[in-house]
Amino acid sequence: MQQNKIGLIGLAVMGANLAKNFASKGVSISVFNRTYSKTLTEVESWNNEREVLIDQAKKNTPWFEKNLENHEYRLEGFENLEAFVKSLERPRKVIIMVKAGQPVDDVITELLSFLEPGDCIIDCGNSNWQDTLRRQTELEAKGYNFIGCGVSGGEQGALKGPSIMPGGKKDAVNEVLPLLEVVSAQDFKGNPCVVNVGTSASGHFVKMVHNGIEYAIMQGIAEIYDILKHNDLSNDDIGKVFESLNKGMNKSFLLDITVEIFKTKDNLADGYLLDKIQNRAGAKGTGKWTVEAAMNLGVFTPSISMAVMARIGSSRNQGFENAQHPENQYIPYPEKDVYDKMLFKAMEGLYLSAYLQGLDLIVKANVEFDWNIDLAQVIRIWQGGCIIRSKMLENLYQKWTQQLNLSNEITGLDFIVSSNLLRPFLVLHASLDYLLTVGCLNLPTNLIQAQRDYFGSHTYGRNDREGVFTGGWTD
Ligand code: 6PG
Repeated sequence: MQQNKIGLIGLAVMGANLAKNFASKGVSISVFNRTYSKTLTEVESWNNEREVLIDQAKKNTPWFEKNLENHEYRLEGFENLEAFVKSLERPRKVIIMVKAGQPVDDVITELLSFLEPGDCIIDCGNSNWQDTLRRQTELEAKGYNFIGCGVSGGEQGALKGPSIMPGGKKDAVNEVLPLLEVVSAQDFKGNPCVVNVGTSASGHFVKMVHNGIEYAIMQGIAEIYDILKHNDLSNDDIGKVFESLNKGMNKSFLLDITVEIFKTKDNLADGYLLDKIQNRAGAKGTGKWTVEAAMNLGVFTPSISMAVMARIGSSRNQGFENAQHPENQYIPYPEKDVYDKMLFKAMEGLYLSAYLQGLDLIVKANVEFDWNIDLAQVIRIWQGGCIIRSKMLENLYQKWTQQLNLSNEITGLDFIVSSNLLRPFLVLHASLDYLLTVGCLNLPTNLIQAQRDYFGSHTYGRNDREGVFTGGWTD
């Protein structure tokens, strides 16, 4: 038994990589997987890679030395769950990294046969925050701690340093924080991309919103690809345009990988891999949950909502005749310099509106549920490791607290969506509409109120006097 030793259940790629990340930083870790053969494979793979991983960790994570009393670099596999649990010193800390939903409940039930009150379960999967709320209530009533912990960065992030979003009882989160700091990415100032996000299910809520933002940015980038493709640019040239857009505030992980995707040739046939990939987009649910939360809390998130719809729409392939005709009606890539400038601004508008919508949602949830979230910290821990990281996050908090001048972004988005193609630009339009709506003082929704009152006496407020009014219509 070793102090600080942590347990991890679930050795699919994310779990296995996170376990190796802990071990390479000197946090001794016990691992368990439903199938023991997988455990054996991962322990063997750790033993083969450990020198390289430890070397990389020492170079890339300057602060981890000071966080730990002793460094063990040990990753130990267990066949038996009881022995796995007994290998950890109390209060035990067990990370679970299994598929969201029922598998999380199943693992918790099995673990409860061996854990003791005071022990802590840390769910690092993409669990629905409402499940986290339920699990916290049930487990805390029995004396256990349960932390809902968002982890972002994909498989490589889990190995090298993800952004980590833990939420739950303050003391319980603070107790695991030093361990999470050791494995996390770094923000722009070199601090760990992890913070005690807030109480209750706030960690998983914030991760869910992160994913909603991720959906919007990804769909917006795909729509810009569509514009470039239908202006007859080759994949090579499209890659170059994305490279030129991946600068300044727009410098970001999602554009980095987009540039790489446009360079990748197919290794099964001629041409580019991208051109062989079917265009039905999948989804595991976090985007949809974000939209549900936005609807329930009354938060305006058009880009995120349209991004979810765009993925659903990509499977609705019924080939209506009228869906085909506009394909070739485009104005050829107009004056390149002007166009490139506008594209750059449009990209900024895309990122900015997606972030603002997500932040609005977090703020509203924080007020509603009293989670004690510090928004500036959320923005900070998204600066490194996670999928939505970008340079814009450096001063986004200041932007968020100020009255923004959005005219540049609006001009860029407007130019791009209205200049050429009859193609579906769900998210680019929604982003433009978001920026236009939030800055608009004379929306036409007085007419909606008038109609509601006219047919149903639903009442209305007036601009010129206090109170609630109804009627006044001529019949
Ligand atoms: C991350 C990602 C990660 C996962 C997405 C994929 O932050 O590392 O968001 O959690 O890749 O959830 O989601 P979809 O399958 O719904 O696109």
